[in-house]
Amino acid sequence: MAEVRFDGRVAIITGAGGGLGRSHAMLLASRGAKIVVNDLGGTVDGSGAGSSEMANKMVAEIKAAGGEAVADAHGVDTAEGGQAIVKTALDAFGKVDILINNAGILRDKSFMKMEEEDWDKVMAVHVKGAYNVTKAAFPVMRENNYGRIIMTTSAAGLYGNFGQTNYSSAKLALVGLMNTLKLEGARYNILCNTIAPIAGTRMTATVMPPDMVDKLKPDYVSPVVVYACSEECTDSGVIFVAGAGYFSRAAMVEGPGIVLPAAKGITLEDIRDRIADIKKLEGAQPFGQANDQVARIISALSKAG
Ligand code: NAI
Repeated sequence: MAEVRFDGRVAIITGAGGGLGRSHAMLLASRGAKIVVNDLGGTVDGSGAGSSEMANKMVAEIKAAGGEAVADAHGVDTAEGGQAIVKTALDAFGKVDILINNAGILRDKSFMKMEEEDWDKVMAVHVKGAYNVTKAAFPVMRENNYGRIIMTTSAAGLYGNFGQTNYSSAKLALVGLMNTLKLEGARYNILCNTIAPIAGTRMTATVMPPDMVDKLKPDYVSPVVVYACSEECTDSGVIFVAGAGYFSRAAMVEGPGIVLPAAKGITLEDIRDRIADIKKLEGAQPFGQANDQVARIISALSKAG
């Protein structure tokens, strides 16, 4: 079978100066995509002034491997930054087909010690950052009737992680953004999916032993991300989990539930007595959109009479 190619496609990858973004960019470039390497060049916690060094270095690396790329050192965390990143793509390559929202920072602290600034900064880079760049890229994709958008979530957001209330809130917000973008983009052939990666990078180097970092190369995550950026991908709204060769799908699901006779009045004791059935996940299913859940509830109520 022919290989998956990106000839003529233009991809923006935010935070592509190192780690996962670098790996996504290298793979996309090796398959023919023209790349905008965005990276503010900051520290893991997003403090201090940025520099264009990281983005420039990556562009040199892509070019040395025979690829095509331009550097962009704007921060994703402002609306102007988002617009400027997309302008870099338009000026250099005339369009945007692919956007991988990957830029990120960490400000881990227990909730008791969390300062407002740590909360706001993490929200600004992850949530507002993905919004800012997507907001600028979406009209271009719509105009061209083609788009592939990736959000980067985390197990911390999907399941929780001690010391990461800001990060886990931000990361799950991106799933919400995907859930609705997939609906609004569908008629324009704009697909939106999410990656929940596990990789040894500078971000995780402090919490992972060196041998584990080695087993968790970002290169092992990128194939599913880049596949989701391809013309061959028809999925939208999927959360892919990837790390060290493990691949799976995570999803928001709802259990089959129960119906209690509302007209007779529902007591606290009714809930207590049926709590195990209410919580049951056997037979749980994901929904394509909010209305599908409403339809399921109406159907359950009518079946119960
Ligand atoms: P990394 O620190 O190597 O990459 C993040 C990049 O984003 C850095 O190069 C940084 O300079 C850039 N960046 C930070 N703020 C920016 C801004 N305002 N504008 C533009 N660029 C900015 O870390 P890693 O691990 O490669 O992270 C990539 C993404 O994957 C992040 O969103 C992270 O939260 C997410 N992630 C990573 C996991 C892992 O196991 N490494 C697990 C789950 C999620």
